[in-house]
Amino acid sequence: MDVAKEKKPRMSLEIIILAAGQGTRMRSELPKVVHPLAGRPMLSHVLDCAESLSPTAIHVVVGHAAEQVKQAVEGKDKIHWVTQSRQLGTGHAVAQAIPDVGADAQVLVLYGDVPLISPSTLQGLVEAAPAGLALLTVELENPRGYGRILRDGNGKVLAIVEEKDASDSQRQIREGNSGILCCKAGLLRDWLQRLDNDNAQGEYYLTDVIAMAVADGVEVIARKAESADEVSGVNDRSQLARLERIYQRGCAEALMAAGVGMADPARFDLRGEISVGSDVFIDCNVIIEGQVLIGDRVRIGPNSLLRNVQIGDDTHIEAMSVLDGAQIGEGCQVGPFARLRPGTELADGAKIGNFVEVKKSRIGKGSKVNHLSYIGDTEMGAGVNVGAGTITCNYDGANKHKTVIGDGAFIGSDSQLVAPVSIGAGATIGAGSTITSDAPENALTLSRSKQRSLEGWKRPEKKG
Ligand code: UD1
Ligand code: CA
Repeated sequence: MDVAKEKKPRMSLEIIILAAGQGTRMRSELPKVVHPLAGRPMLSHVLDCAESLSPTAIHVVVGHAAEQVKQAVEGKDKIHWVTQSRQLGTGHAVAQAIPDVGADAQVLVLYGDVPLISPSTLQGLVEAAPAGLALLTVELENPRGYGRILRDGNGKVLAIVEEKDASDSQRQIREGNSGILCCKAGLLRDWLQRLDNDNAQGEYYLTDVIAMAVADGVEVIARKAESADEVSGVNDRSQLARLERIYQRGCAEALMAAGVGMADPARFDLRGEISVGSDVFIDCNVIIEGQVLIGDRVRIGPNSLLRNVQIGDDTHIEAMSVLDGAQIGEGCQVGPFARLRPGTELADGAKIGNFVEVKKSRIGKGSKVNHLSYIGDTEMGAGVNVGAGTITCNYDGANKHKTVIGDGAFIGSDSQLVAPVSIGAGATIGAGSTITSDAPENALTLSRSKQRSLEGWKRPEKKG
């Protein structure tokens, strides 16, 4: 996402984010602003957007489940937490933070449950604010629930009326209040002191400062948001799911614009960051989490989950694969139905087939583990062939042990390599072996009871 970072000289900017409400309609134990959008709390999206404006301070007003909210965005620095112990209204909430804002600063008010707000919209508002009070409004098909913008015959903003206080004719107005505004902190502080709660909800409304600004001769500059989605608040899970799809659609469009082929942009989820080479193709229902780096001409098969992985050029990930914390070289083939767990490294040209789990192991160049195997804590050389059903027995119930497999080794099917154990380069392990001590280079090692046949043996017969 592009952040317009024009370095014009400006007054210092401080941001207040309201996040004290419970969010009853989510019907959840989790505070509303902690509910995830694209895999992280809504509040953290708002914080990212706020940070992109380089403010001198960010004040977050918390109340309901305050500790949980703080924990959810741990790691974010520069947050000044403000407590609003009783939720007496948006004006009351801002009033809790305003004493800590420098009187000469511009103050921008944001909402923890309006997660798709964009830096460029806010930048525009901040730039307009020095002339008075800048207010972000939105033209709505259905303005239900929003405060309405009242203008005079010349189009000059006069006040905001909350829906519950509005007359029938005022409810016909389709210009709604986004709630987001920016003005000089000293003015806002003065207006907030004069708020009362003499209204339908018995709350201290932030919106009442608009009429005060007009009365004080401060110009109200209303800017319309480009899209209603950007200023949409989340009150229930259905609205959250709607914004999630809008967000994901944006991610998919950006990837396609960057040259990624997608079977269905509506069935793609980015819950982290992705960087892609050229001519990458992503099939349906792929989920990306954490940091994912993908090289040129990579194909990601349907229904795959990629979390914190790096994938080299020309590698194909086949359907239904779950890759987590893996580094995959060039020209590899993984899946279908593969599971790569953290610490997996595949050298170029390696192949991991169906129902194979690999954990904390290095698979050397061109080596193949094609069917139904578990490879854990293993150092595997190049050109190794691991037969179906091979298991590295890395865990003795208390400790993990290492398996080392030399270049060019051939592990027969259904073998168990009981670690710690080492298989020499060029060694062959006979199928069905349980290997408990090191196998020498270039020799055939097998541990198998000799096969015998009993002539004249009869199957038992059913009694009676
Ligand atoms: C508010 C606006 C309305 C606007 C709408 C846009 C007011 C009075 N009304 O209404 O004009 O159209 O947003 O979505 O401002 N909060 C606190 N402490 C409180 C009350 C609220 O922190 O005491 C927080 C809530 O957690 C929420 C935000 O402020 O994040 C908005 O509060 P909410 O009650 O949802 O306001 P609306 O009725 O939607
Ligand atoms: Ca709301």
